Amino acid sequence: MKYVDELPVEGKSIFLRVDFNVPVKDGRVQDNTRIKAALPTINYLLEKGARIIAASHLGRPKGKMLPELSLKPVSKRLGEILGREVKFSPDIIGERVENLKNSLKEGEILLLENLRFNKGERENTPEFAKELSKGIEIYVNDAFGTCHRAHASVYALPELIETKGAGFLIKKEIEHLTKALNSPLHPYSLITGGVKVSDKIPILRSLMRNADRILIGGAMAYTFLKAKGHKIGSSKLEEEMVNEAENIMEEAEKRGKEFLLPLDHRCVKKIDEDAKIKIMKEIEKGWIGVDIGPESEKFFSQRIKDSAMIVWNGPMGIFEIEVFSNGTESIASAIASSGAYSIVGGGDSASAVKKAGVADRITHISTGGGASLEFLSGKKLPGLMVLEKR
Ligand code: 3PG
Repeated sequence: MKYVDELPVEGKSIFLRVDFNVPVKDGRVQDNTRIKAALPTINYLLEKGARIIAASHLGRPKGKMLPELSLKPVSKRLGEILGREVKFSPDIIGERVENLKNSLKEGEILLLENLRFNKGERENTPEFAKELSKGIEIYVNDAFGTCHRAHASVYALPELIETKGAGFLIKKEIEHLTKALNSPLHPYSLITGGVKVSDKIPILRSLMRNADRILIGGAMAYTFLKAKGHKIGSSKLEEEMVNEAENIMEEAEKRGKEFLLPLDHRCVKKIDEDAKIKIMKEIEKGWIGVDIGPESEKFFSQRIKDSAMIVWNGPMGIFEIEVFSNGTESIASAIASSGAYSIVGGGDSASAVKKAGVADRITHISTGGGASLEFLSGKKLPGLMVLEKR
């Protein structure tokens, strides 16, 4: 695979796939991390006098044009950060965008509207890819967080373009994640949480290969606790994953891995910041677990501290609500003070380390959530594989 500094980009029109899937509220970008992470590649291309046609998805609009998922606010923020004009195209394909692409001068940048407004993106259709390829000379992917999706802008499009490569953000991600995959340090702790349970459980088995201990928190934990016969009240459960969860725990035991679940929980009757919080070991009927409890914080932190390598993906509770964020922040602090080689991935975990003021003590904050986990599980990511094809 080639990197952008090995491509003849001078004066060329470049399709730059970025991952600007950032939180936007009331037309304002809430977190710049992913935008800033793409700057080394963007600045390099601008300095080389390339003409950049940048493109990203935002959220999951399923082929519909949803104004709240427009990338317009992102183009504004990118312009502010770059200190130069970023042109915006409300169209993704078609004559108007062709004209905009053709009128771009050297060192100018254009951002297209949310690629997922067109269903051809998720369906990876050759027709949509063909339209995207019009007027493009070189393809560069720097959207690490999206490389596990075989979508048109990530897969079908680069198949059509001969000169292609990856950006500096992808380069950095691959360097750190390869270390955890191929040269793990022991004891190695894998901490996972969050809500994307059905995305994560199936890959836990392969993720477990390198890890000595697996710590589970967040919504994911309830499926495992249920499988162990604990009471989980009305907490989030993936019923169809209970068997799989049981199998994974059995396998962990056979392989001599420590598999740790929370010992207690912060529970509420209604998910609301003013709700009364009760600490429970067994969650009573009608109550919902929203964060790990104080005993679990202590127990997890103690197990984290003696690690040499840590991978963390997914918060311990409904972290975006301040009163349910204790568990997640205590994990962030324990990782930072462990001195271990640490990799934190996923938007929420990345904001947790920032919020806890410990981001500078984390070895690598990955811009990818699902993508970094899939990479660490040893899977080949389609968005990277296609760049190796000639
Ligand atoms: C992410 O936020 O993990 C990436 O942008 C991919 O988004 P997706 O899970 O909606 O494909």
